[in-house]
Amino acid sequence: MTIPSDSFTAAAERSTALAADIAADPSGYRVLTGERPTGALHLGHYFGTIAERVRLHALGVDTFVILADYQVITDRDGLGAVRDNVHGAVLDYLAAGIDPARATIFTHSAVPALNQLMLPFLSLVTEAELHRNPTVKSEHAAAGRALSALLLTYPVHQAADILFCKGNLVPVGKDNLPHIELTRVIARRFNERYGPVFPEPQALLTTTPEVPGLDGRKMSKSYGNAISLSMNADETAALIRRTPTDSERRITFDPEGRPGVSALLTTASLCTGTDVTVLADQIGDQGSSALKKLTTEAVNTYLSAHRARRAELARDPHLVSDILRAGNDRANAIADRTLTEVRTAMGTIY
Ligand code: TRP
Repeated sequence: MTIPSDSFTAAAERSTALAADIAADPSGYRVLTGERPTGALHLGHYFGTIAERVRLHALGVDTFVILADYQVITDRDGLGAVRDNVHGAVLDYLAAGIDPARATIFTHSAVPALNQLMLPFLSLVTEAELHRNPTVKSEHAAAGRALSALLLTYPVHQAADILFCKGNLVPVGKDNLPHIELTRVIARRFNERYGPVFPEPQALLTTTPEVPGLDGRKMSKSYGNAISLSMNADETAALIRRTPTDSERRITFDPEGRPGVSALLTTASLCTGTDVTVLADQIGDQGSSALKKLTTEAVNTYLSAHRARRAELARDPHLVSDILRAGNDRANAIADRTLTEVRTAMGTIY
C-alpha cells in the first residue's frame, strides 16, 4: 500500500531540512537502523540502506545497527540460518565502512530490557491502529498466511528498537514511513501519560531508487533474483547469465515491456553512475548477451573492493562474535537505563 502523496511530500520536505541540519551538526543525532537477518545482504540493501547508513556514520552521527532476529519469525515458522545471516551481515557492515569502535551493532534477542518496553508500549496503541498500519497490511499480504500477533505488533516492537536507545533519526524507504509515524505516536503518548522520557524520532527518507531484482520483480533472495554482496565474481556472472531477457537485438529501457533487460540496465547504471538510456544506446543492437556482459563487469567492479575487504575480515574467526558481544553489552547497558527511567516514570520501582 502506498502512502498518501501529500504526507509523502511533507515527509520528503522534512527530510531535506533534516539532512541539512545533520550535515551542519551531527552531534545531536542518534541513528537506529537495521535488518531482519532472513538471508544474505544483497545489492538492494547496499544501495537502499547500507550506503545511507555509512554516509551518516562517516558524518559522525552516533550509529546503532540492530539485527532484528525476532523479526525473522513475524511471517515464518523457523529462524532458518539465522546465525550465518547475522554473521554475514556484520561482515558486510564492516566491509561497507561501519566502524565497530564508533557504532553499536547488536542483536534484538540479546537485549531483554529492550523487549520489556513492549509491554507498556502495547498499552498505548489499539488493535484497530495496528490493523490499519500500511506496513503491517502489506507485509501480511506478502506473507500469504495467517497474521501472527508478532506481525500485528510489528510497529510496536520496532518502536521499542528505536526508543530503547532514544534514537532520534531513522533512515527509511517510503514503505516504512507509517512505522516511524506510529513510533512517534507511542513516544508522545508515553510522555503525555507518564512524563517526558522519549524523543519523537524523525524519519530521514532514503532517496535511492529501489533496485529491482534481475527479473524486474522486487529483489529478494527467495525469488533467486538477488546479487548478494558476498557472492564472488563467477557466481555473479552465473546469476546474471540466467536472467530472463528477450531476443530483441536493440537494447531499450522499458521496465513494463522488458523487465529483465531494464533491470539489468538499472543495475549497471547504479554501479557505474551512467544513465540507463546512455547505457542502452551504448549497447545499441548488440543484444542481451552484450548487456549481460556489461552488467556483470559493472557489478563485479563496483563490489570488488567490498568483497576483498569482506573476505579479509572473514579470516578472523572471532571478529564477528567479539563485535556482537561488545555491541550487545553496550545495548544492554543502555536498555537497562531506559527501562529504569520508564519504571520510575510509571511508579513501578518498589
Ligand atoms: N524491519 C526492518 C527491516 O525489515 C528492520 C528493523 C528492525 C528496523 N527494527 C528496526 C529498521 C528499527 C529501522 C528501525 O529491515
